Amino acid sequence: MKKIQIALDGPAGAGKSTIAKQLASHLDYVYIDTGAMYRAVTLAALEQGLDLENGPILGELMKSLDIRLTPGEQGQRVFIGEREVTDAIRTNEVTNNVSFVARQAEVRSALVVAQRKLAERGGIVMDGRDIGTVVLPEAELKVFLTASVEERASRRHRENIARGMDSDLKGLQDEIALRDKRDSERTVSPLKQADDAIYLDTTELNIDQVVARLTELAEGALK
Ligand code: DC
Repeated sequence: MKKIQIALDGPAGAGKSTIAKQLASHLDYVYIDTGAMYRAVTLAALEQGLDLENGPILGELMKSLDIRLTPGEQGQRVFIGEREVTDAIRTNEVTNNVSFVARQAEVRSALVVAQRKLAERGGIVMDGRDIGTVVLPEAELKVFLTASVEERASRRHRENIARGMDSDLKGLQDEIALRDKRDSERTVSPLKQADDAIYLDTTELNIDQVVARLTELAEGALK
């Protein structure tokens, strides 16, 4: 059967990763979380004490950084070389700094090349901010998932608590609003709905409902 590319974009906390994971498993596709790649670069830059706003320096870092994504039982695992960083890229420090790194053209161009390579054979669900607009403009199915800031913050809050992390709901709302602003206002590949993407507001929908809707859309795109 034909294997298509599915691009899932949207702001932080819209449920993209949970939904992309389930959709990929329904379709027997590979799930690729591109945010994890930006997070891995941010972690490496923080550890090396680099200036996160210096594009050329981060461009040099990209040349030496071997970021690998592999499917695991609990979802995607992330490695820098041989070192696993799946959990290390989810700390607040990385989360609060990733937008600076993600707006550097040198970082984006290197990651876009890697992402296209991962997607070239199809059979993938890729989530991010610029997948439908920049990375895979020819994807057969593009969806822009969103939800209100309040709903997205409470979803992250529940996730943090489930992971045993400290969590402050009001702080999360402020962080998400700020990250939305930085991601949508940056010059290079801002967060933006592709003209041919389907818009889905998930504020009032549960995960099963969203996955069912996307499975329907994917089956439509396969015909
Ligand atoms: O999805 P996430 O929260 O893990 O993404 C982390 C950051 O990376 C987010 O602030 C925006 C950025 N990002 C991006 O600019 N382009 C992508 N394709 C994916 C993520």
